Amino acid sequence: MAVLLEKRRSMHIQLEEQHRRNDQLASQLEKLQSLANLGLVSAMIAHEMNNILTPIGNYAKLALSHPDDAPLAKKALSKAAANCSRAGKILESMLAMAGAKRMDAEKHAVKDMVDEVFVLLARDFTKDRITVNIDIAEDVAVLCEKISFQQVLMNLILNAREAILEKNAGPGTIDIRVHADAGSVRIKVQDNGCGIAPEHHDRIFEPFFTSKNSKLHASNAGGGLGLAFCKRVVESLDGCLYAKSAKGQGATFEIVLNAGN
Ligand SMILES: Nc1ncnc2c1ncn2[C@@H]1O[C@H](COP(=O)(O)OP(=O)(O)OP(=O)(O)O)[C@@H](O)[C@H]1O
Ligand SMILES: [Mg+2]
Repeated sequence: MAVLLEKRRSMHIQLEEQHRRNDQLASQLEKLQSLANLGLVSAMIAHEMNNILTPIGNYAKLALSHPDDAPLAKKALSKAAANCSRAGKILESMLAMAGAKRMDAEKHAVKDMVDEVFVLLARDFTKDRITVNIDIAEDVAVLCEKISFQQVLMNLILNAREAILEKNAGPGTIDIRVHADAGSVRIKVQDNGCGIAPEHHDRIFEPFFTSKNSKLHASNAGGGLGLAFCKRVVESLDGCLYAKSAKGQGATFEIVLNAGN
């Protein structure tokens, strides 16, 4: 009997020790997860900074190569000033997201946000033989933190452009359309580029997944962070982001938000 009691006592001690170790491991795992999350958010911030800095650099170079063009110099400076405050906002909103905080959201017209993204990109799509069709009713608005949402649109548009250039055959088209009804707002960015290979389809939203070789892309594309960033922002608005594509037949990315999200 005494032996049995002793065995039971020692099993209890072992069990308690196991519990203590489990708790320790769980708290270590939590710390590691929040560090990994912070690392990912930092990489995403760097990615969006690059998206913002590229047009500033392009404008600055253009202004420097035309030293006598005062209006151009003024435009380059105003682009730099506007984009610097965007960069600050991005930092703020990404860090808030890392801490699972919600940024202050306001209603913003989708059409105005899309139009502004093209101004910010300061890129002549027609030079790449790409036609952009924007078909968005003026009165459709979504509740969002404007700068982050515009970075989402910018990433989808840049990906569409890169997919068209990747296909490298004939002129391309990017269609941006919005469908709104009582229940939802659906924003579609569709291109007729290279499409998504079936074997890549399930991986495109994974952080650091890319099918691009950055050496082949002048724009430095190929970090594999654009869509991961987009998904995170859209999900922070309780929305969804989907992709539809067949290889060689272009791709459609769709953001679905609840009406009055
Ligand atoms: N419009 C598109 N057409 C075809 N494939 C696409 C499209 N958009 C994204 N993809 C695929 O999804 C992958 C991930 O896209 P994502 O934007 O996350 O990274 P990336 O564009 O490769 O690099 P970056 O970090 O510079 O954005 C791409 O590498 C590409 O394979
Ligand atoms: Mg991208």
